[in-house]
Amino acid sequence: MNIPQSVAWENGAIRLLDQRRLPHVTEYVTLETVPAVFDAIQSLAVRGAPAIGITAAFGVVLSAFIHPSSDVEELKEQVLIDSGYLSQSRPTAVNLFWALNRMNEVVVQAASAESLRENVLSEALAIQKEDEDVCRAIGEHALPLFKDGDRVMTICNAGSIATAKYGTALAPFFLSKEHGINLSVYACETRPVFQGARLTTWELMQAGVDVTLITDSMAAHTMKTKKISAVITGADRVAANGDSANKIGTFGLAVLAKSFGIPFYIAAPLSTFDLGTPNGDAIPIEERDPSEVAEVNGMRIAPEGVKVFNPAFDVAPAGLITGIITEKGIVKPAERDIAALFA
Ligand code: MRU
Repeated sequence: MNIPQSVAWENGAIRLLDQRRLPHVTEYVTLETVPAVFDAIQSLAVRGAPAIGITAAFGVVLSAFIHPSSDVEELKEQVLIDSGYLSQSRPTAVNLFWALNRMNEVVVQAASAESLRENVLSEALAIQKEDEDVCRAIGEHALPLFKDGDRVMTICNAGSIATAKYGTALAPFFLSKEHGINLSVYACETRPVFQGARLTTWELMQAGVDVTLITDSMAAHTMKTKKISAVITGADRVAANGDSANKIGTFGLAVLAKSFGIPFYIAAPLSTFDLGTPNGDAIPIEERDPSEVAEVNGMRIAPEGVKVFNPAFDVAPAGLITGIITEKGIVKPAERDIAALFA
């Protein structure tokens, strides 16, 4: 089965699958500087919460190797400045801050410049490897939720290229394929950046998973007429009470699922939980450039001067979420159950 991957550490640089160009062009870019990493994250060359975290972690590695200092305290200071800079690339996905915090810990503990460089590289590679294992475990825990012939709806791309491998919301589809279970996926196109149309369909088709593309406005009609059995999405940040931020449109799907009596699942690794954020109202929601809404592929579709609101994420409240599928199993979106995951 062909399961694409998006981030690699190769020859002292980051090799990224450029997700802006998919599905028409499969092109890899090489990042050799910290500002290039910042731009790749901000411009969505790499996107998806875990993949952003992994890329930023490798950005810290680049920083450590680029700064020539042999004085460990001086090197720590320079690398921590770069880490702080990378943390400003996108605000919503907590995996970015989670990964950078993990890297910062390693930086501050280094006893020499040489060991700092060695240790940050091992840590970034560990973050990447762990994410692959975690995503596979999420897929395994999700599998029993679906039976042969089920039709499942998703939005955005919480797939292999949004993580180290397998994805979160898409992991059960790859694993069900391995187990000979046939699931059909209905992928919402995901305006305005079209992660569903461009990336989820591309990924699933390569793996031979049955996928049908719909526009976001077709979700209610499709749930009803195609007898959708469940909705599953990823998350960018799960608050302590289970409210979950994910790609804009997710909240609407959760409301629809509730009204049709369809289970609505969030698939997310523990690195996406933020116990320091009490609820969804406290999650920072990124607002992106108006051109994403007023233009399609560089072609203007709205009158010049029109006002545009372009939030990249919304929050599905815990009350609409049936369960959150993690690497430790499925948890109820409730404060106590979530806290127990981390106990
Ligand atoms: O703006 P994006 O494309 O980075 O948004 C991505 C999502 O909303 C994903 O669903 C989420 O990050 C989970 S990826 C496993």
